[in-house]
Amino acid sequence: MHFPEEVNKIIEMIKNKKIPDSYPESLLSRYDPKIDNYGLRDIVINHMGYALIANDWIVPLSLWIGDRKCLEVMSGSGALAYALRKQNVKIIPTDNFSGDDNFHYFWKEDGIMWLEVEKIDAVSAVKKYGRETDIIILSWPFMNNVATEVLETMRSINPDCMMIYIGEGRGGCTANSKFFNLAEPVKDEEFENAVKKFKQWNGIHDFPRLFK
Ligand SMILES: C[S@@+](CC[C@H](N)C(=O)[O-])C[C@H]1O[C@@H](n2cnc3c(N)ncnc32)[C@H](O)[C@@H]1O
Repeated sequence: MHFPEEVNKIIEMIKNKKIPDSYPESLLSRYDPKIDNYGLRDIVINHMGYALIANDWIVPLSLWIGDRKCLEVMSGSGALAYALRKQNVKIIPTDNFSGDDNFHYFWKEDGIMWLEVEKIDAVSAVKKYGRETDIIILSWPFMNNVATEVLETMRSINPDCMMIYIGEGRGGCTANSKFFNLAEPVKDEEFENAVKKFKQWNGIHDFPRLFK
């Protein structure tokens, strides 16, 4: 596959477990068969994950998080936790390494993990760490009920805890409608400013949101 030089540089960085500062338009842009964005997305998912992690939003988000304790559930390769930890965020990454019926968990088998991820089911992780957690991070949950159960458990264990959800909105390809019925958006201008540089792949509508 032939990609523009600036895109090749990004792929090399991700393969070498370096968080890019930002993503060039040629990587994100509208579908162009010469660029083959869809093949490109697979490469990035296989080496990092579903959200486009870059320092242009990770650094301000880390400043917004500050000293607060984070728990990441369903962390996949751990790349997001890695990026946040580089900015001194206190975060515990967890995943049950299961995938689901349609998804084979591949990062661990392929030796792609960005850091050590605790093997634990998402709801059990909230029960285990939720009391001492200020922010639960959930990026790209499946469309089953797990995200909903995480939110319910978070609320019952620690009503002060907030959730940073990265995914599509209602009717999209992450979480389910019960989750969106339950999730209460938290209005926080500083959070919105912190994540405003978050980028999506062409045709994908994920974005970081703050819920409680
Ligand atoms: C679509 S991937 C998203 C991974 C990562 N957060 C990202 O944004 O790239 C969903 C992840 O959730 C994990 N998972 C699925 N069900 C889980 C459960 N009940 N508890 C913990 N992790 C789970 C899978 O193993 C997989 O790593």
